[in-house]
Amino acid sequence: MKRIFISSMLLTLCLIAFGAERKSTVTVHTSEGTSVINRNIYGQFAEHLGTCIYGGLWVGEDSPIPNTNGYRNDVLTALKELHIPVLRWPGGCFADDYHWMDGIGPRDKRPAKVNSTWGGTLEDNSFGTHEFLNLCELLECEPYVSMNIGSGTVRETSEWVEYMTADNGPMAELRHKNGRTNPWKVKFIGVGNESWGCGGSMTPEYYSNEYRRYATYCKNFSGNTLYKIASGASDYDYTWTETLMKNIGNRMDALSLHYYTVLGWNGSKGKATTFTDDDYYWCLGKCLGIEPVIKKHIAIMDRYDAKNNIGLLVDEWGTWWDEEEGTTPGHLFQQNTMRDAFVAALSLNVFHKYSDRIKMCNIAQIANVLQSMILTNDDKMVLTPTYYVFKMYIPHQDATFLPSDIVCDEMQVPNERFQGGRNQEEEPTRTLPMLSATASRDAKGVLHLSLANVDLKQSQTVSVKLEETKAKSVSGTILTSKNIADHNTFKNPDTVKPEQFKGAKVNKKDASVITVTLPAKSIVTLEITTK
Ligand code: AHR
Repeated sequence: MKRIFISSMLLTLCLIAFGAERKSTVTVHTSEGTSVINRNIYGQFAEHLGTCIYGGLWVGEDSPIPNTNGYRNDVLTALKELHIPVLRWPGGCFADDYHWMDGIGPRDKRPAKVNSTWGGTLEDNSFGTHEFLNLCELLECEPYVSMNIGSGTVRETSEWVEYMTADNGPMAELRHKNGRTNPWKVKFIGVGNESWGCGGSMTPEYYSNEYRRYATYCKNFSGNTLYKIASGASDYDYTWTETLMKNIGNRMDALSLHYYTVLGWNGSKGKATTFTDDDYYWCLGKCLGIEPVIKKHIAIMDRYDAKNNIGLLVDEWGTWWDEEEGTTPGHLFQQNTMRDAFVAALSLNVFHKYSDRIKMCNIAQIANVLQSMILTNDDKMVLTPTYYVFKMYIPHQDATFLPSDIVCDEMQVPNERFQGGRNQEEEPTRTLPMLSATASRDAKGVLHLSLANVDLKQSQTVSVKLEETKAKSVSGTILTSKNIADHNTFKNPDTVKPEQFKGAKVNKKDASVITVTLPAKSIVTLEITTK
């Protein structure tokens, strides 16, 4: 791919002086699609953390907040519209401290415990296995259950699988007693979470043995086939991946990876809603830093698994800012601006590119925690800019990925803004293309092209060339706002929301070309029908 590099400062000065806009081209190779964008790349994550579950998803049947069997109606409606394919639960770090038997049976008899990982909040266990799996049925999504191998036992794990999926035997009888006759279908199980850290501080060699032991006793019951996911590396820990590929190999169906767009793990992570232009560009550079990381993990996987049988799942990703002032420490409640929307779009664009190996991703988290879809406060709810990106990208779910070449301006952004980040091995600067794009073809043959003009000040004219295809019509949706820090609040819930986009036209003389004018800091998804 040919790219033009011009110093960002110089280029911006020239553009401003001459009142010009940026120009770029995207060539979509419409007949070269070989991999499908697994819908599970649009997965979500719900942890017992802060108000993600309690208050966000679940208010209980006796709540004055309108609910269906304890689930908030407003949140249910909004989530159904997102076509969520898969939901990961109960953690995160919480998973390796969770004992599932505490969360079954009559709610008033369930024992309480302190959520020692997340703020010392009292966990009353009113949301447990039944509440989670029934929620997945309501949302028509697949459950992904993370097992406790850090502080649990092999027996506990094996009985949990049996309780959820067997149609006879003692665990099935216990389930019947608790009100559920038919087993649920549970395909995805995580064998631990961050086992190198909060999930048990294990070495990769030790974890590999633990994985093999625990996974042996996670059995397929009653026609349910498990897809077993090993707890993978964080960021740049390639040794973890190498060791697991060597020692676990095809005993796992997939290996996870966690990558957060975060300044560092010590000290301030920066504010979600107050930031400079430089902070914004740094953030997008850091977000795109996931691509070389994915490539390196995949290269290791390729050496052990040339046939591509083991999936790579980015089962935690997204932005991580300082908690909002006035919220409970340890609850990771953060606001969500247009900057977060860009992180969502750019990350999804990267995941699409590696969809031959990446089979699932789970943004952290679904409500009220980190880069969430939804924020709630008592009976109020707002949808975040990130929610809208996920909605605009629905047509890419299960569509065929179409490779594209992008020629656009680029800028160099510093790599780590602060000392103490975990990113010591990378280059001091990162290249940030001013345009990000991804294309796919759905089952009906309709093309979808998502474009993001990263530039905060300049509009951008994109010449889209559809190789070997002619466009019949083009329509679209745009997400943009006056300021990059704009966000939706309980008082003003509609500051950022998608609108119809009218800036794309099929070229009259050559219908294989579409000209798109993207306003500064905008994200667009086009629907293109072809002749
Ligand atoms: O998503 C918040 C936390 O981040 C998760 O519990 C943990 O797995 C990760 O470190």
